[in-house]
Amino acid sequence: MIRIANKHDGAAIHDIASSIKVFSAEEVTCVDELWEESVSIGSELSGYYFIVAEEDGALLGFACYGPRALTTGTFDLYWIAVDQRKKRGGVGRQFMQQSEKDIARLGGRLIIVETSGKAEYAPTRAFYEGIGYQKEAVLKDFYAPGDDLVIFTHKLI
Ligand SMILES: CC(C)(COP(=O)(O)OP(=O)(O)OC[C@H]1O[C@@H](n2cnc3c(N)ncnc32)[C@H](O)[C@@H]1OP(=O)(O)O)[C@@H](O)C(=O)NCCC(=O)NCCS
Repeated sequence: MIRIANKHDGAAIHDIASSIKVFSAEEVTCVDELWEESVSIGSELSGYYFIVAEEDGALLGFACYGPRALTTGTFDLYWIAVDQRKKRGGVGRQFMQQSEKDIARLGGRLIIVETSGKAEYAPTRAFYEGIGYQKEAVLKDFYAPGDDLVIFTHKLI
């Protein structure tokens, strides 16, 4: 079941983010910061909307999206992570479908996903391609020398 996150989900979101091998400590801290801001002032004011997947009382993953400042109807998918014991089970696809519905309801028309071009992110890029997102741009050496930024997009309308 995919649902809107509530304030009790913070520890589980942190644990899932920490368990993802490709996420650095800095990235986990970034997830925590977005979460704190979302909980303290709410999704609308912070611009960070968290959703979670729950099965038998346990969280299987989370996603976070929000409007991109200074755009009309462009939304970023900031984070998506699925418990690695459940990967390739369709949870990621469900997160994206729910995010798309929510974003459309919020007036969004374009979703942007940014990821890394590094080899360890090949399964992540295969995921976005597998769900039909367009590989729109590559910025060479963006994150670091040898670590490109790969931008995927999805049009809602
Ligand atoms: C990327 C991630 C969110 C995908 O979630 P998931 O639940 O494993 O993916 P799904 O089972 O919903 O996959 C949907 C489709 O994507 C494609 N796909 C997913 N993983 C793939 C892989 N490793 N190789 C090839 N295609 C893949 C397939 O087309 C798949 O459909 P299918 O299984 O019917 O063939 C998850 O694996 C994850 O948490 N990865 C680590 C964190 C991360 O990289 N997050 C994104 C950066 S913010």
